[in-house]
Amino acid sequence: MLKLSKLATAVAFVVAGTSAVAGEVEVLHWWTSGGEAKSVSELKTIMQSKGHTWKDFAVAGGGGDNAMTVLKSRVVAGNPPAAAQIKGPALQEWASEGVLANLDPIAKAEKWDSLLPKAVSDVMKYKGNYIAVPVNVHRVNWLWANAAVLKKSGVADMPKTWNDFFAAADKIKKAGFIPVATGGNAWNDFTNFEPVALGVGGVKFYNDAFVKLDPKALNGAAMKKSLETFRKLKGYTDAGAVGRDWNIATAMVIQEKAGFQLMGDWAKGEFVAAGKVPGKDFLCAAAPGNAGTYTFNVDSFAMFKLKEAAAQKAQADLGVAIMSTEFQEVFNLNKGSIPVRLNMNMDKFDECAKLSAKDFVDTAKSGGLVPSVSQDMALKPAQTGAMKDVISQFWNDDKMTPETAMKNLVKAAATK
Ligand code: BGC
Repeated sequence: MLKLSKLATAVAFVVAGTSAVAGEVEVLHWWTSGGEAKSVSELKTIMQSKGHTWKDFAVAGGGGDNAMTVLKSRVVAGNPPAAAQIKGPALQEWASEGVLANLDPIAKAEKWDSLLPKAVSDVMKYKGNYIAVPVNVHRVNWLWANAAVLKKSGVADMPKTWNDFFAAADKIKKAGFIPVATGGNAWNDFTNFEPVALGVGGVKFYNDAFVKLDPKALNGAAMKKSLETFRKLKGYTDAGAVGRDWNIATAMVIQEKAGFQLMGDWAKGEFVAAGKVPGKDFLCAAAPGNAGTYTFNVDSFAMFKLKEAAAQKAQADLGVAIMSTEFQEVFNLNKGSIPVRLNMNMDKFDECAKLSAKDFVDTAKSGGLVPSVSQDMALKPAQTGAMKDVISQFWNDDKMTPETAMKNLVKAAATK
């Protein structure tokens, strides 16, 4: 710990080229749910322990769509925060605007290249220089369940296929519970659709459609079946879902009102914050048809170019803190994700996190590891946004045919 802070100070001298004092660090993020807020408070505590002032810039809204809108207006106004939660290909876009700081001095001093999987460090770099620091690895293609609801409904196991899933959902409905809890906004709709498409169509289809944007995949049989399955899923959700936040849907599972939720493992942060125990109160499993695959989502912070030496020191300290083993452990225990830093001790992590860590490694070898399109990891932000809108329109308009949605997907994929 001491060594790290000494190093950060040295690095800040390099970055600032002048003497360094403690400064204020304004951090834009969208971590406002119970589990998320607990997680980000750990970062605040570390920064305060280094003498910096933490200025919280939280913009609510799952997936960060609202946060990104607010960020743009701040940067356009010439008043960027010190750091912002930005991820995936959006990092490259921001870097190409020339507004992000080069983090190479700390990255080199701290040996980030050797501490991160290459697939992750590549995303953190622009023209070979680090422009962001990764926080975690979230898995998106999970199914969560309330163990008591399954038991009371006579569902013995977590469903492995979509057919099993709908059979289980029928039993849960019959027992008087809501089968599937969901939030209701474009981001949540796309988050639900992703494991359906991957489970129905498989890895090659997923990559063709959502990474390569192949019109044949976007407008083919597997997409049609995925959309039909997605529509069927809607029949198991409740009418009150419209406008609901994802964490309120998780609360419905926690409170024994609903059986299942499809969601990334930030949902586990909610279960854990509510004192629930995995394997006992709630269950986690790969989403139906998703075994052997892993949709990854890496949160990261980019730092904006700032002039003041104190602000630069705070940024350097923030980068060092995020990559420290201490932070990686405590943050990810609360957040539901796994550490992004390699070779971390996983002893304190639960079974869901251990499964995630194992599957991350196994699927990287097997080819089942794919970037999450719904969490902005696969495509340019404008393309993701356009596709998200199509899927959401399809979800909300029961009269729209899969054929229309597929044509619209092809158009959305052509967004520049
Ligand atoms: C982020 C998570 C966050 C979730 C809900 C995801 O895109 O990666 O960190 O908890 O959105 O807001």
